[in-house]
Amino acid sequence: MFVDLLLGLQWGDEGKGKIVDAISKNYSIISRFQGGPNAGHTIKIGNKSHVLHTIPSGIFHKNLINIIGNGVVIDPVIFEEEILKLNDSDIDFKKNLLISNKAHLIIPTHCLLDQASEMSKGIKKIGSTLKGIGPTYMDKTGRNGIRVGDLFLEGWRLQYTKLKNKHLNMINNLNVDISFNLEELEKNFFRSIDFLKNFSVIDSENFLFDSLNEGKKILAEGAQGSMLDIDFGTYPYVTSSNTTAAGACNGLGIPPTKINKVIGIFKAYTTRVGSGPFPTEIYDEIGERISKVGKEFGATTGRARRCGWLDLVSLKYAVDINGVTELAMMKSDVMSGINKIKVCTSYKQFNNEIFRMPFSLNPSSLSATYTEFDGWNEDITNIKDESQLPNNLKKYISFIEKNLQVPIKIISIGPRRDQTIYL
Ligand code: GDP
Ligand code: IMO
Ligand code: MG
Repeated sequence: MFVDLLLGLQWGDEGKGKIVDAISKNYSIISRFQGGPNAGHTIKIGNKSHVLHTIPSGIFHKNLINIIGNGVVIDPVIFEEEILKLNDSDIDFKKNLLISNKAHLIIPTHCLLDQASEMSKGIKKIGSTLKGIGPTYMDKTGRNGIRVGDLFLEGWRLQYTKLKNKHLNMINNLNVDISFNLEELEKNFFRSIDFLKNFSVIDSENFLFDSLNEGKKILAEGAQGSMLDIDFGTYPYVTSSNTTAAGACNGLGIPPTKINKVIGIFKAYTTRVGSGPFPTEIYDEIGERISKVGKEFGATTGRARRCGWLDLVSLKYAVDINGVTELAMMKSDVMSGINKIKVCTSYKQFNNEIFRMPFSLNPSSLSATYTEFDGWNEDITNIKDESQLPNNLKKYISFIEKNLQVPIKIISIGPRRDQTIYL
């Protein structure tokens, strides 16, 4: 009778999709609680990689219920494409996928507004995925949004037209040069709305209360990462939702007293896609090597991810905010063959050594301080248990555990389900 959380602790793309899929067998329900199609969660089954944007990562397990919670924002066009891509996967979507009637909808002009807003910022742009996320959450908190449940009521088209006109005025005021064919966008949008209405739309919070009372185990799947959280991330270079633990309560209607484990997931190094400060970013050939071996390209936009060393200062902050009870370290295999591995253990800001996240990570006054480790050369992608881990990797693991004061329970050594070592 509990809810476990799985959350990214860095700037996203930690491997949440892989681990949710890998541990799904321990749960009856998997639910997404925030974000939208800015997320790209990759699951590799056999030789095939699937990238999910809106659908929770438990969808490949036959007996699991997957919930798109009230905190998620849904672009019906992307949702339709996502479902159609999975058509040959033999999934019973009617039975296994439930959508909250309180989830907000991304309409075409949300995406156009995102684009116009980014253009107007020039070099200060956020590096948004341009999926309309910021504008949709803005309308949610501004109390102008359209919810999935509205689609079944009279009058939502009027609501749509009002919202669209508001956006067009805003775009006009931004005075940037963007071109679009709204008629075409709307044609696709309304078609995909009809498609969406065929799915099971429910009061997902009530469904979750009942499931908890029946003793079912629930896993809440985060999107993005803690450093992209609207309150605690590297603002303004963040996303527009609470990606941290409390976001799961709001985004699903789960009381905090029902939360059990908080599984924090991080890469053995760090990546970031989009703009914003990144104290441990590597600019030399080691960064290029990590990018190449780790195939660090965005699952949603295809953009190259910036690569850097592990940052224990930001990781400790994320552990504290989320109340992480156990850790999963991903992509350990990517570090094989690096002679000397660096880990950031403090920052230097205005000549002071600091161990906690400061208000600003502005690189003009802040730099990372490192502890250096001997690397390992062994290919670890085929090992089967903990005893086969190279000694230097074991030292790396225990240093991280000691520093964060939380045990690492999963070591990931490749993208497939079976490339997972449980400690
Ligand atoms: P998410 O957004 O947190 O679900 O992560 P993404 O799917 O965006 O990015 C993680 C990428 O790393 C995907 O391409 C995964 O297939 C891949 N991946 C996950 N775990 C591992 C691992 O342990 N080793 C390697 N080499 N790749 C991994
Ligand atoms: P997953 O769930 C990595 C980043 C964008 C940009 C900032 C704001 O796959 O880990 P937005 O589209 O939300 O307005 O973009 O956040 N971003 C992500 N980076 N992984 C993600 O999701 C991300 N979702 C958003 O690159 O810097
Ligand atoms: Mg991703």
